[in-house]
Amino acid sequence: MIADSFGRVHDYLRISLTDNCNFRCFYCMPEEDYDFTPASRLMQPDEILTLAKIFVEQGVKKIRLTGGEPLVRKDAAEIIAELGKLPVELVITTNGTRIAEMLPTLIAAGIKSINISLDTLQPEKFFMITRRDLFHQVRSNIELLLQNKITVKINMVVMKGLNDNEIKDFIEWTKHNPVQIRFIEFMPFSGNKWTSNKLFSLDEILATVEEDFTVLPVKAAPHDTAKSFMIPGHEGSFAIISTMTAPFCSTCNRMRLTADGKLKNCLFSDGETDLLTALRNKEEILPLIKASIWSKKKELGGQLGKHFETLDADSIVNRSMITIGG
Ligand code: GTP
Ligand code: 5AD
Ligand code: SF4
Repeated sequence: MIADSFGRVHDYLRISLTDNCNFRCFYCMPEEDYDFTPASRLMQPDEILTLAKIFVEQGVKKIRLTGGEPLVRKDAAEIIAELGKLPVELVITTNGTRIAEMLPTLIAAGIKSINISLDTLQPEKFFMITRRDLFHQVRSNIELLLQNKITVKINMVVMKGLNDNEIKDFIEWTKHNPVQIRFIEFMPFSGNKWTSNKLFSLDEILATVEEDFTVLPVKAAPHDTAKSFMIPGHEGSFAIISTMTAPFCSTCNRMRLTADGKLKNCLFSDGETDLLTALRNKEEILPLIKASIWSKKKELGGQLGKHFETLDADSIVNRSMITIGG
């Protein structure tokens, strides 16, 4: 069992497969000419499997693959197939562009739920955010997943003045489609141009939806990061991930392994533990994992505090989102 000093048992591991991505979202990458980590410094498939097995032996029940964009990695299929053999729930967060060609691999690995990042339903705005003209490809891949009875959650990072005017359009989408839309409060990471006036909060999101719809709360599962809601008569549902105005750290069960093999005990941790180098040096891994998680801070990596109105994103000691994986 892996636990922290506050008694939180950690049984959910997020593994970033790569910090590479075929999109260039301004809020995720520090700059356009960002240097992706060279392949030699990334965990290799056998190393990912070795580390994942150590976590699974310690009680990890769920592994989520993240990126960058996990499916741009050339050996993604091999990694997914191997992880699919472990006794865990395997899931993935993706930008949705590579779903069609990867679908047989995903199904064979037993993946039943996929989270797709999609911040707008407008093709021009999609291009503005991602710098890629792939809106229709993502939309058709979402349909493909639904046809194959895979659970789809849509991650929509709400940024004031950019896409908060689309909240109701996303809700309309849930009327006849079994998707769950997760509206996400915009979070600060190094270089992502976050300012508090771009934050569209949980309360503002709810108030916006309630202007036109009847909203009923849904009971949360034990470690949910999202507060879930339903709208009577809608086939789909929606949820809100409110890291900034209503954090959910008291039930946190998450650990993160970056693509270069560093363990982060919190999304906002300022430190990390180099498991990949230890593995390559044939050192014992488990004590390193246990010590890292034990030292986890109570909330938000001890870094964000309550006063986000005056928070400067660049003063936070952390990686950029593209190298963490969310
Ligand atoms: P499930 O709960 O397993 O469905 O996934 P998830 O929603 O945690 O994962 P996903 O990768 O889809 O992330 C959605 C949003 O939640 C992203 O903005 C993540 O950065 C954020 N998120 C994921 N895990 C955490 C966490 O532990 N803490 C905080 N504060 N945010 C998180
Ligand atoms: N704030 C909130 N969510 C973010 N994501 C990326 N950057 C941020 C941010 N600054 C989301 C992506 C993806 C998930 C892994 O994290 O949209 O769906
Ligand atoms: Fe867990 Fe850190 Fe996320 Fe809070 S911010 S839920 S402690 S990973």
